[in-house]
Amino acid sequence: MYVIAPSILSANFAKLGEEIVNVVAAGADWIHFDVMDNHYVPNLTIGPLVCEAIRPLTQAPIDVHLMVKPVDRIVPDFARAGANIITFHPESSEHVDRTLALIHEQGCQAGLVFNPATPLDYMDYVMDKLDVVLLMSVNPGFGGQKFIPATLGKLKAARTRIDAYARASGRQIRLEVDGGVKVDNIAEIARAGADAFVAGSAVFGAARDSDRNRYDSVLAALRAQLEIP
Ligand code: DX5
Ligand code: ZN
Repeated sequence: MYVIAPSILSANFAKLGEEIVNVVAAGADWIHFDVMDNHYVPNLTIGPLVCEAIRPLTQAPIDVHLMVKPVDRIVPDFARAGANIITFHPESSEHVDRTLALIHEQGCQAGLVFNPATPLDYMDYVMDKLDVVLLMSVNPGFGGQKFIPATLGKLKAARTRIDAYARASGRQIRLEVDGGVKVDNIAEIARAGADAFVAGSAVFGAARDSDRNRYDSVLAALRAQLEIP
């Protein structure tokens, strides 16, 4: 029931294909794909061409996190490039409902991403169009930042809304968390209600130079923490 999604932002880009094959072999559930545009966030990363290039290397779902403005123009490109899940920040879309519908029309699952200072209210009127709710536990733009503790209370609040919706509708929405997730805090984050965990530096930082055994041990350590009741 728990999903671990290594963020390739912290992978060795010179060996990206190898990194992805190794991290999936070590037990990664999704590949988290951070797209930054030097406009919505102050950093520039990777786009649809890189998504298309890695697509043949893995069956694992590719979880595209868009930190770009505007959003709608680039959505079909990522769908064509093989994305499975596309999430975006409500502040970066002119029309949240329309962008969610566009992602679905393109055959992908859709989600909203909440910055630490963004209220959860955006989700209330689009629950039926959400497959994923992603709470940022750092301000977006860079890997390797420290988990913001206020995210725990926000996760509980999001979990309450998602569970109430699931009881009423029978439909499940994933609650994903992104930023500063490590072996020493993932259990507490799960207890607050998250069921999908992005981990960038915790996974790839531990294994420079594609040391595959290190991926096995980090992913096993993260998963062992999730088994603690
Ligand atoms: C931050 C990105 C995250 C980041 C997570 O803007 O959205 O996905 O790569 O990296 P860590 O796990 O190192 O905080
Ligand atoms: Zn991300």
